[in-house]
Amino acid sequence: MARNVVLIGFMGTGKTSIGKRLASRLGFAFLDLDQFIEEREGCKIPEIFAGRGEAYFRAAEKKAVEEAASRKNTVIATGGGTVKDPENMERLRRSGAIVCLTADVDTIVARTSRRGERPLLDRSGDRRQAVAELLESRRSLYEQADCFVDTNNRSPLEITEEICHFLKREGNLHG
Ligand code: S3P
Repeated sequence: MARNVVLIGFMGTGKTSIGKRLASRLGFAFLDLDQFIEEREGCKIPEIFAGRGEAYFRAAEKKAVEEAASRKNTVIATGGGTVKDPENMERLRRSGAIVCLTADVDTIVARTSRRGERPLLDRSGDRRQAVAELLESRRSLYEQADCFVDTNNRSPLEITEEICHFLKREGNLHG
């Protein structure tokens, strides 16, 4: 039985778009945690942060992880902060291979420049500094992955193929 594939990484590293692509390449289901939470809560992530606060969001995220980790043959795209909770990581690790997508600060700033989508970045005046600081503070958490894939200046196809190579090497994927 194939294990899940869990994508972790900072905001703007492409977890959702690569996750969708990878799922169709593998013939797996796709589950995006942020989207799952939005469907459950009936509102968008920025509204959840604004109306109920980050702690409420993290609790909803934890429930979503529990549900996601019980799935099979699924590519799970996490949110950038899912890694902060050790129990989330333990559950996800038991459910599958953990792949971390990486990107440098400039790439992340460019990819997350749209306002109104990422409450943790919107509340800071200096976006570049906010990205750099948050990324640094989470570095050791992202390092828990089994495999790291650089997404700077690379096509979605290249990134997806690199993940597939890793999965084949570690016996998660045949053929
Ligand atoms: C967050 C990342 C977001 C979303 C929320 C919090 C974070 O997901 O879960 O805004 O703490 O890094 P993406 O990584 O998909 O943007």
